[in-house]
Amino acid sequence: MIKNKKLIVANWKMNPTTLAEAKKLFEGIKKTASKVRNTQTVICPPSVYLSELKKFYFGHKIAFGAQDVFWEKDGPYTGEQSPEMIKDIGAKYVIIGHSERRERGETNEMVNKKVIASLKEGLNVILCIGEKVRDLQALYLKFLEEEIRSALLGAQKKNIHNLIIAYEPIWAIGKTADNAIFPHQMHEMYIFIKKIITGFYDKKLAFSVPILYGGSVESYNAELLLTQGEADGFLVGHNSLNSSKFGEILKIADNS
Ligand code: 13P
Repeated sequence: MIKNKKLIVANWKMNPTTLAEAKKLFEGIKKTASKVRNTQTVICPPSVYLSELKKFYFGHKIAFGAQDVFWEKDGPYTGEQSPEMIKDIGAKYVIIGHSERRERGETNEMVNKKVIASLKEGLNVILCIGEKVRDLQALYLKFLEEEIRSALLGAQKKNIHNLIIAYEPIWAIGKTADNAIFPHQMHEMYIFIKKIITGFYDKKLAFSVPILYGGSVESYNAELLLTQGEADGFLVGHNSLNSSKFGEILKIADNS
């Protein structure tokens, strides 16, 4: 992973609906991604498109990632793919523990197995955490702490340099900038997450772990989330499906 660069990750989720559209979207994003200097772009398409897209891109300005992974190396696990397989086709990143997967049954224990197996394989792990709602007693902070603690159980210190945390509050996903987090709230979360990781390892290591924000990122809120919010980058959902909107976010990140 390239440190000291903003990391802007496109999570295409289950879009677009054809390979032809995926190639067109990729070409559109490439135009801006190849020009920015201080920003690393990562594209996480549906895995069926991953090797096709990778096949015709040899540059280093865009890296590829998978949206999920399984923890076993090989065997009778229909529908799954291993960290080694993802790495073998040239992807460098993997999103783990996205709330849309947790909603459909992924547990903290499963997230932990995926994190450990992927870190061992040398993939950059984008670990997603996020609360459904914010309660007045701030119990959601305990919930987030547990998501981080359980995901990193047994992770070796030497592999933590490949860890990225994506803070994606569920209440802010799939909306508009007006419904997203405020920069001062992001700043609080940035400090909170660093403190927790410091507790598990040490301050120096904790401060080397990039913290991304995800949830209705658009050009309107991107700059302040990076400057005042101190986010090290973004995990972008629906606005990564529009190359000009995503390009705007890339340019803002590059100049922030
Ligand atoms: P949106 O950007 O569509 O809110 O999605 C965020 C997200 O879930 C990225 O992983």
